[in-house]
Amino acid sequence: MSKSRGHHRCHECGAVHLQWAGRCDDCGGWNTLIEVAAEAVAAAGRAVTFTAPVPITEIDATCARPVPTGISEVDRVLGGGLVGGSVTLLGGEPGIGKSTLLLQLCIGSTAAGRRVLYLTGEESGQQVQARARRLGALSADLLLGCDTRLPAVIAAIQSLRPDLVFVDSVQTLEDPELSSAAGSVTQLRRCVHQLVNYAKANDTTMVLVGHVNKDGDLAGPRVLEHLVDTVLSLEGDRHHGVRMLRAVKHRFGPTGELGVFEMVADGLVEVADPSGLFLADRLVGVPGSAVVPLIEGCRPLLAEVQALVASSGAPLPRRSAQGLDGARLSMLVAVLEQRAGLRLSGLDLYASVMGGVRLADPGGDLSVALAVASALTGTAVPGGLVACAEIGLSGELRQVPHLQRRLAEAARLGFRRAIVPSSVDLDVDGIAIDRCATVAEALNHSLGHLDVSSYVTTSSNNLTKTNVVVSADAANNRKKISAPA
Ligand code: TYD
Ligand code: MG
Repeated sequence: MSKSRGHHRCHECGAVHLQWAGRCDDCGGWNTLIEVAAEAVAAAGRAVTFTAPVPITEIDATCARPVPTGISEVDRVLGGGLVGGSVTLLGGEPGIGKSTLLLQLCIGSTAAGRRVLYLTGEESGQQVQARARRLGALSADLLLGCDTRLPAVIAAIQSLRPDLVFVDSVQTLEDPELSSAAGSVTQLRRCVHQLVNYAKANDTTMVLVGHVNKDGDLAGPRVLEHLVDTVLSLEGDRHHGVRMLRAVKHRFGPTGELGVFEMVADGLVEVADPSGLFLADRLVGVPGSAVVPLIEGCRPLLAEVQALVASSGAPLPRRSAQGLDGARLSMLVAVLEQRAGLRLSGLDLYASVMGGVRLADPGGDLSVALAVASALTGTAVPGGLVACAEIGLSGELRQVPHLQRRLAEAARLGFRRAIVPSSVDLDVDGIAIDRCATVAEALNHSLGHLDVSSYVTTSSNNLTKTNVVVSADAANNRKKISAPA
């Protein structure tokens, strides 16, 4: 009945309708109309008061200072810690370790004398207590609440006045005023919005856990991202111990910084030397393996790329890419065939970045190409060699950012030679730099002068025994090789 009286406002587009309807005529959103009290409509017409804008130089900056969490990998991602009064959404697939990380965040906070209210709708108080005990997070300053109704949650926060509020998870919160079920988009938006309002008004720092759905979205496409200050994503392969924490959105600093953890029997442990971890199980001297120096945020990272080729029985050979983009792999295969003369048609190809690392950096192109060529030819990439370049469609090697840092990391881990594009003008302590203009040249240089007769197509003879060139010859060399005779 109440749905036919008063005014109704669409919470998507703000349009006001005289009558309730299931669908907003203005924006087309379903179930978006909410009744507006008559006096609120009247008030909208009256004069409004406003907070006077102030010169930008006079804004109090002290509140925006990050407070260290006590977990340095988290602080690295956040650019120092959690900012007072900020709301952070911690997303990740079920079972990846969000609740574990949340409890471990309590350790440093309570030790620093801050009171934490931990609201759980996922597990019982006993379960959280048992886990907190195992993780060493038990503290009288850690208050546990199991109510998931929004008004009760807000009331609890109001009466306890904690410094930090952790909610696990937002999908279990529900506002009884709304008819939709907990976890629905309307509920999520309402609950998170209310919490954000409270956090801002009362300078309370909040971390909210959100499960991601099958498509990797936090509760539907971008529903919550714009409401909060920071979105962290905890990722990893559930079958591996490695977990990576990234900032997808961060109002107080740069995104893209990476934190690395390992899930062990007593929770998440910080990995100070991820490159060492990722390369720990590498077999040197086996064909099909190459090492790639990546950059994640400001952090250099070494990972292993592996490839395997096998004769295919299927009419369409299989191309499997794990930890790297399938389309990028196809492009690299095409370049290897057309510009370096490798023949991959009729062969299944598997390429994989090991240790749960996701290779999105084009600087990994040359290593992927190297791994594929190495697998195809059965020639191992020399153990002390890394390669770092983007590969263009002409088969040319192109520069990528932060090469100095990448190569310094490779040198630190004992690599002694690096193949880079010929345009690079750079010296790095402890590592010899070999410059190549094209992918064909880089392959020859790293895999030796291949007996290519059984691998190249007859029409292609550009896999020549070219020597390494220095930057002065780059233009010439590039031209020479990209135009097959
Ligand atoms: P959890 O934090 O419950 O994941 P989420 O909240 O993201 O759903 O962690 C789930 C997994 O982590 C679970 O499969 C068990 C594992 N785990 C450990 O290996 N060691 C531990 O100390 C803890 C607490 C969890
Ligand atoms: Mg959980």
